[in-house]
Amino acid sequence: MSEFGIESNHSTETHKQGSAGDSSFKKRLGIFATCVVGGSLVALYAVTGPFIAPALRKVCLPFVPATRTQIENVLKVLKTRSGSLVDIGSGDGRIVIAAAKSGFKAVGFELNPWLVWYSRFKAWREGVHHNTSFYISDLWKVSFSEYSNVVIFGVPQMMEQLEVKLQTELQSSAKVVACRFPFPTWTPDDVAGEGIDTVWVYNAKTFKPPIRNYKDSERPN
Ligand SMILES: C[S@@+](CC[C@H](N)C(=O)[O-])C[C@H]1O[C@@H](n2cnc3c(N)ncnc32)[C@H](O)[C@@H]1O
Repeated sequence: MSEFGIESNHSTETHKQGSAGDSSFKKRLGIFATCVVGGSLVALYAVTGPFIAPALRKVCLPFVPATRTQIENVLKVLKTRSGSLVDIGSGDGRIVIAAAKSGFKAVGFELNPWLVWYSRFKAWREGVHHNTSFYISDLWKVSFSEYSNVVIFGVPQMMEQLEVKLQTELQSSAKVVACRFPFPTWTPDDVAGEGIDTVWVYNAKTFKPPIRNYKDSERPN
């Protein structure tokens, strides 16, 4: 009996140790699983968040890349032009890179950091990184005054507000190309392409009010 008693104590002790080991293993497994699930969710949010964020803004401007024909139309209407070019909301950089290949000093402003890093990589891979720059910026917070060629593939809800911004900022020698959606009140100087690949061209001197040189006697009070 006593022999069995000793054996039984030993087995209880072993059993206790076993279940303590089990529970600590389960605890570690639980922490590991929580870390994996939590980490995956954070990574998923980090990757998809910047793509979803534009949909939650007042003006929803999602990432929809320009078609090949659309890019050809943009370059066609700008073929007599040179100098600086900006793509407002540059997405994966395809318009900026194509413009740089056509001789422009091309710049893109884009809210989504993943797209900006990808654009920089693509520009480097295609050998135009010296003629391109990409900035992670909100288009409403930067001035486009220094650019002589401006490209926008926007959405109708933002075009009126953008008209006011560009009219205020651009020099009268600038040219603006709107892809897929025209500006609501400006009259285009040229149109190219058809359907979803249509581009509208606006010369700033057409949409900017002329600067008047008043004689002192004519100056409004
Ligand atoms: C219709 S896509 C055009 C992409 C590119 N221009 C093209 O034609 O392939 C519009 C882009 O604007 C970006 N965007 C949205 N809101 C923005 C903002 N406030 N400032 C800068 N970029 C913005 C989006 O992330 C998206 O990549």
